[in-house]
Amino acid sequence: MQSGQQQDNHRGQQATAGQRYCVGVVGAGSIGCFLGAYLCQDSALDVKFFGREAMALELAAHGLRASSYRQHHYFAQPVAFYSSLSSLIECDLVLLTVKANALVPMLLELKRYLRPEIPVVAMQNGIGIAEMLSQDIANPILRAIIPFNVIKPKAGHFQQATAGNIIWQQNTHKLVNYVIAVFNRLKLSVDVCLDITAAEYGKLLLNLNNALNAITDIPLKQQLLDRDSRLILALAMQEWLAICAQAGVKPLRYTLLPNTLLPWLLRMPTSIFKRIAHVLLAIDPAARSSMWDDIQAKKRTEIMFLNGAVMRLGQHYHLPTPANSVLVDYIKQLEMGTFHSQSTQTLLKKIRQHA
Ligand SMILES: NC(=O)c1ccc[n+]([C@@H]2O[C@H](COP(=O)([O-])OP(=O)(O)OC[C@H]3O[C@@H](n4cnc5c(N)ncnc54)[C@H](OP(=O)(O)O)[C@@H]3O)[C@@H](O)[C@H]2O)c1
Repeated sequence: MQSGQQQDNHRGQQATAGQRYCVGVVGAGSIGCFLGAYLCQDSALDVKFFGREAMALELAAHGLRASSYRQHHYFAQPVAFYSSLSSLIECDLVLLTVKANALVPMLLELKRYLRPEIPVVAMQNGIGIAEMLSQDIANPILRAIIPFNVIKPKAGHFQQATAGNIIWQQNTHKLVNYVIAVFNRLKLSVDVCLDITAAEYGKLLLNLNNALNAITDIPLKQQLLDRDSRLILALAMQEWLAICAQAGVKPLRYTLLPNTLLPWLLRMPTSIFKRIAHVLLAIDPAARSSMWDDIQAKKRTEIMFLNGAVMRLGQHYHLPTPANSVLVDYIKQLEMGTFHSQSTQTLLKKIRQHA
């Protein structure tokens, strides 16, 4: 993997001399608005945001601001915002930032309006995204993984809440590499990565907790201090690591500790866990997972691209996935409004019965 500064790609920079390029941010929510605000700072890029009417009104009223983890602030106003996708025809590059479960309904419109040679960078969490998109559209599909969280402290203001460099699939598209260089220049570091599957698989290991956090219905920090909850997460992670090994994929590491030691750390008694895992616990005491947010907003979640993908690949490799299957089942119940709250002890018992 090459670091952001090494990759400050001259080839990409030269590509724009005297020209302007149109970048479409499709699905202008937390990630789309955050990244789009950076790109608006570059005079060679004409950034078009595609999203919901409510976001258009919010940005028209408040402007758009992005704040980095290192306290850089970028402001954009006016913002070119479209609630119809027809202007996609003008785009030279698309950053696709809808949630994974919104991709299928969007495919028809992408197919209808996007020129077939235009690269699409899919920025979702989860497994199987590029394969799914490639089945339906002819465009070159690239993947990028966002390792940090973005929150919205105020209307129109999108703030990076945790550290981490964006991981971006290595590619030869000049405009894509120009955009990477813009992010790097503005100190939003991008690491270019040859093995994007390893990056996806490693990110999933961390995202397995999103569902558990939504089910337990308590803040992340409190949840991590509950040993039964950690034991469930350790089981879910072990299932995924066994699948990765079977598939011959070495998942990229996003934490100080090697991936294979994470379940070991989670199984520690709480007093020891607290001492060793202070970095993991250095989170806002009120923070919860985005899947919890989706459940509260009565939206469909990305579960089938996360724990659901573990289940699917487990079946493929004939490996058992009782922990992830129970989590998927409970999230589906939450989505349907038929879930009855249960203690983590009961949840753990249920998983052990399934094993
Ligand atoms: N937020 C984070 O901190 C974070 C961090 C790392 C990775 N990610 C990943 O990044 C991806 C995007 O997450 P996000 O948090 O930015 O999601 P988000 O805030 O929900 O943004 C997506 C936006 O796209 C809109 N949208 C969906 N379908 C649309 C359509 N057909 N036309 C126009 N607009 C449409 C959504 O509107 P509706 O809600 O009305 O559908 C929403 O406003 C996810 O895969 C997530 O897992 C997020």
